Amino acid sequence: MYSENPMHDVVRVMKAFLSNQLARFAPSIYVKVTHQTGRGDESGDAKEVAAYFAMCVKEYFEKLDIAPADYAAYLKGKKILEYGPGDVLGVALLMYAHGADAVHCVDRFPLSQISGKSLRIYWEILNALDANKKDRALGAFKEFGKPESGFNPEAIAYTVTPDGLSGKKRHYDLIISRAVLEHVNDLEKTMQDISDALKTNGVSIHQVDLKSHGLDRYKPYDFLTWPEVLFKLMYSHKGFPNRWRVDKYRELAAKSGLRIRHMSPTGQLAMHDVAAIQPKLARQFRNIPGEELSWLGFWVLVEHPAVNAADRS
Ligand SMILES: C[S@@+](CC[C@H](N)C(=O)[O-])C[C@H]1O[C@@H](n2cnc3c(N)ncnc32)[C@H](O)[C@@H]1O
Repeated sequence: MYSENPMHDVVRVMKAFLSNQLARFAPSIYVKVTHQTGRGDESGDAKEVAAYFAMCVKEYFEKLDIAPADYAAYLKGKKILEYGPGDVLGVALLMYAHGADAVHCVDRFPLSQISGKSLRIYWEILNALDANKKDRALGAFKEFGKPESGFNPEAIAYTVTPDGLSGKKRHYDLIISRAVLEHVNDLEKTMQDISDALKTNGVSIHQVDLKSHGLDRYKPYDFLTWPEVLFKLMYSHKGFPNRWRVDKYRELAAKSGLRIRHMSPTGQLAMHDVAAIQPKLARQFRNIPGEELSWLGFWVLVEHPAVNAADRS
């Protein structure tokens, strides 16, 4: 393990262990105490947050190779699952506005709520839409045009489940997530849930952020040097990064019966930074080639193999 100040690291282990127990046994209290509120917290302007959700949707469609003019045709009749939406269901609202039949959001932590800030964000999203889409989006609420009444679950449903799993079988046409898979507590279960919940001709797109999320202490990626057992004691229940690298995603996709249609990095660490940390890596990262280790994040599109191959022929 890499350290420049062992005493400092011992104190960190103790504090992190205690807060991990709080997150394990009282996740709602943990969320409140640590102010894990996400995009709808008081930082950031509602317009900027609304623009973030618009960008997320645009990027999902770019990965699907679907032009804006074709969003509605693509989404017609489709059911979407979003893992880990955070506290504002902005992507869900936009997907519904663009024509999705229904959007279900599933999370492990109960973050989504109607607040002054989230209402301002929903109105920014609504007001940026053209008249037809806005009209459709206004119908996503329990009372037409009243975001404060909450979402009509037939249009946009939000569920909090153990491990953040949907538990559905062959139910969704499109499954998405952004900045979520690196936080899930059991990546194997989540990957299997994606495989189970995805219709045989569906597609699933994820943007994964492999950075340390503030856990590096002295050098880039030194969070990968904590032995796994210590890292789990400190962070396993808090929604912190699970540390899995791209090799694990490949392995679990194959294990769950999914084919990777596309995978590409969103950024890479300099090779001299990778080399500096490689000799101290925790055991499970030691055999990963330097180039793969350097990935700071990635996009991945997965699907069921046989049926999609048949569809394309
Ligand atoms: C960094 S936030 C990203 C929120 C949102 N997707 C965005 O782009 O702003 C991570 C989200 O993943 C959720 N999460 C953590 N563990 C999860 C799990 N096992 N299953 C589903 N969601 C999970 C968190 O509660 C949170 O909503």
